[in-house]
Amino acid sequence: MKKKLLIIFAFTLMGYLIIPSGYTKTSASQDVLAAFKGNNCVECHSRLMNPLKLTSRYGEWHISTHKDKGVSCDKCHGGDPSMKDEKKAHTGILPTSNPQSKMNPKNLPETCTTCHQQIVAAFVGSKHYQSLKATGLGPSCSTCHQHMVTQVVYSGEDAAKLCASCHDSANSSLPKRPEIADQADEAMQAIRRASLIVVWTNRLLEEAHNKKVDVAKAEQEMKVVQGLFIEAKASFHAYNLDAVRKKADEAHQRGTKIKDELRAKLYPNQ
Ligand code: HEC
Ligand code: HEC
Ligand code: HEC
Ligand code: HEC
Ligand code: HEC
Repeated sequence: MKKKLLIIFAFTLMGYLIIPSGYTKTSASQDVLAAFKGNNCVECHSRLMNPLKLTSRYGEWHISTHKDKGVSCDKCHGGDPSMKDEKKAHTGILPTSNPQSKMNPKNLPETCTTCHQQIVAAFVGSKHYQSLKATGLGPSCSTCHQHMVTQVVYSGEDAAKLCASCHDSANSSLPKRPEIADQADEAMQAIRRASLIVVWTNRLLEEAHNKKVDVAKAEQEMKVVQGLFIEAKASFHAYNLDAVRKKADEAHQRGTKIKDELRAKLYPNQ
């Protein structure tokens, strides 16, 4: 997982170094400047070349879903994006290691809840949250989503490894509970199965729209499936792995039925 991220990042960085600015209209930094015009955090940080540690943070954000969705630095870090001056812009921004920082692992749930209420609510009900608040030992959002929220855990294997690092490791003070990693593996696979069907079915719905085929009923049913899928992902944050599997499997079954009906409707001769 980390390796993949590093490779993507290396290419992103190479892009900056190799492509002189103004070389092409689609040059990455120009796109960003257009979408985030007037946001001084993005404008200044996208141009920083030194020190490398900090520019790498910019690169991580640059390839993230948050950038694609228009979530600028200040939405998570705070500060004042209307200020061109570095000091003024950084008002209120503290190093992550400071317990008062919005980015300190202990405070991330509160920072992220502005936009991810359902997920954070599930997390807050878990032992992980209690332990994070009490001792700082439980995982926080950045444990599984990387520093700049560039990653989601994708494979069952990755999920299992992650849980095992605390729940089944000689390096951890927690009692060995190998079954936790196994259950997480299965739950993650169920999420992936459901995810594939959701993507596939949504593509078919789009095709139906383009072909002006009436699929109102399938669309209604698909809303239920989406809801189940979102609940499954939220349940993952409560570490209620049984619930994750049940909801994800139900989303998968119902989604498959809709998908097959749509295919029969769109391609009757296949
Ligand atoms: C004019 C340029 C400039 C602007 C505007 C700017 N920054 Fe920075 N920022 C920097 C530089 C340079 C550093 C590295 C400072 C250092 O090495 O101490 C930095 C450091 C940081 C750090 C690391 C702080 C730490 O203590 O570890 C964060 C987080 C950050 N900026 C976020 C932001 C956000 C959010 C905004 C907008 C609200 C912003 N920056 C606006 C230039 C800028
Ligand atoms: C979705 C939320 C989010 C957005 C948007 C975001 N960051 Fe971050 N950033 C984080 C988190 C979380 C951390 C701390 C992760 C950790 O614990 O290592 C972090 C860490 C950093 C650090 C290291 C700070 C330190 O004290 O170690 C810098 C620098 C930084 N971000 C700059 C930026 C800049 C510049 C942008 C915009 C181009 C940005 N971030 C956008 C969430 C975000
Ligand atoms: C200003 C709103 C905002 C804030 C603050 C924010 N996010 Fe997001 N986040 C979004 C949006 C929008 C998406 C895109 C998915 C969606 O539409 O739900 C997203 C997606 C994600 C994803 C999925 C990424 C992917 O590639 O699929 C993760 C994980 C995530 N956010 C974690 C966090 C964490 C952790 C924090 C706090 C450090 C945070 N977010 C703060 C708006 C936000
Ligand atoms: C122990 C690991 C773990 C921790 C801790 C964790 N997440 Fe997640 N997160 C996941 C997994 C697994 C998924 C589902 C992956 C997928 O979308 O395929 C996910 C998905 C998400 C999504 C995308 C949901 C969607 O509907 O697409 C968001 C947003 C998110 N997490 C936010 C957070 C926030 C905020 C925190 C901290 C309160 C957090 N996560 C802590 C593992 C974790
Ligand atoms: C950074 C370390 C860390 C990681 C990573 C981690 N956990 Fe935990 N987990 C904890 C701590 C600490 C507790 C609280 C232990 C306690 O209070 O008994 C806990 C408690 C739990 C519990 C409650 C146990 C019980 O006896 O009721 C479950 C379930 C759990 N974790 C599942 C998971 C899963 C699933 C993953 C992977 C997706 C995971 N954990 C990853 C540290 C971690």
